[in-house]
Amino acid sequence: MNETIPQLRSYDELSLDAAFVTLAEEVRTAGSGDPETFRLHWLGRKQGRLKLISDAWLKSAPAEARKPLGIRFNQLKQQIEEALAVAAAAPSAPATKGGIDISLPGSVRAPGIPHPLLKTMNEIVAVFHHLGYSTALGPQVESDFYNFEALNFPPNHPARDTQDTLLLAGQQAKPSRDRLLMRTHTSPVQIRSMVAQAPPIRIVVPGKVHRNDAADTTHSPIFHQVEGLCVDTNITFSDLKGTLDHAMKALFGSGVKTRFFPSFFPFTEPSADVQISCIFCSGAGCRRCKHSGWIELLGCGMVDPTVFASVTAERRKLNPSDDAYNPAKITGFAFGMGVERIAMIQHGISDIGHFYSGDMRFLEQFA
Ligand code: DAH
Repeated sequence: MNETIPQLRSYDELSLDAAFVTLAEEVRTAGSGDPETFRLHWLGRKQGRLKLISDAWLKSAPAEARKPLGIRFNQLKQQIEEALAVAAAAPSAPATKGGIDISLPGSVRAPGIPHPLLKTMNEIVAVFHHLGYSTALGPQVESDFYNFEALNFPPNHPARDTQDTLLLAGQQAKPSRDRLLMRTHTSPVQIRSMVAQAPPIRIVVPGKVHRNDAADTTHSPIFHQVEGLCVDTNITFSDLKGTLDHAMKALFGSGVKTRFFPSFFPFTEPSADVQISCIFCSGAGCRRCKHSGWIELLGCGMVDPTVFASVTAERRKLNPSDDAYNPAKITGFAFGMGVERIAMIQHGISDIGHFYSGDMRFLEQFA
């Protein structure tokens, strides 16, 4: 705002009119700011502009000019008060203080929540922790040996075609078993754990896996699995069935039924696919279970003796007499499930892409 006291050169009516028009204009343009600042600036009792100007002009005014000056100062004061009333009534006016609009909504920092995928993964892992399993982890960049060969997928075997693999560049000079790739499943951690540790073993392996798959509503090139492995004396297919039946009831409710269908995986024999009764229609048949009443959820089976043989060969590099994984003494079962698929069924989500979109409208539903 203008702080200087304007000069008044002449006291004739025309000059006075011109001077007060300028002042009125100054009042008009300054009136849109904070009303209190505006009031103090113009009407402040000691330093107010109206007081300073009238003192200056009246002091040097000839006697006959005092009355017309007084009338005009009164008019100007009225104009100031009107401008003040308008400013005070304006809705945005009280919200503005020192250039900050205090009527804007505050920025609220939402408390974080576990991502729905992490939540489901933790739920699955917790079910097995209660059964005495511990968590094992492995690398996402894995060698051909752990991801395939030790799991009874020989080099160039067509079983590898079921898992379209992302290979790391520049590996050709290495022997086949050492070539690096992005792990296509969490099963290699079975091998790593058995090589490192003698039975009994009870582990769950949550983690990220990678496949060269095109993204659609049910596929993503990066997704998550939870693997399980149990190796001990006298482990039977009944133990496998009982364990997974319990886990499915813990995850989906005690009312769900499970059934086991013959299947094939190179590293388990016999192998099975596990289905649960459709949680949407309780088995009556609906769109989500393709009118079969059943939903396929995971793969499993008894650990193939060939896998134990690969583990034993590795362990004998350190201890030539190692016999911990002799299939005549121990048996085991394994299972593997997709976390996205389970979370989608739990929450009725139809597009896997929602998990990775970062869309708060989706994520907030899990708060
Ligand atoms: N690794 C398999 C896959 O990604 C899933 C699987 C099936 C894991 C059977 C297992 C199993 O441990 O026994 O398709």
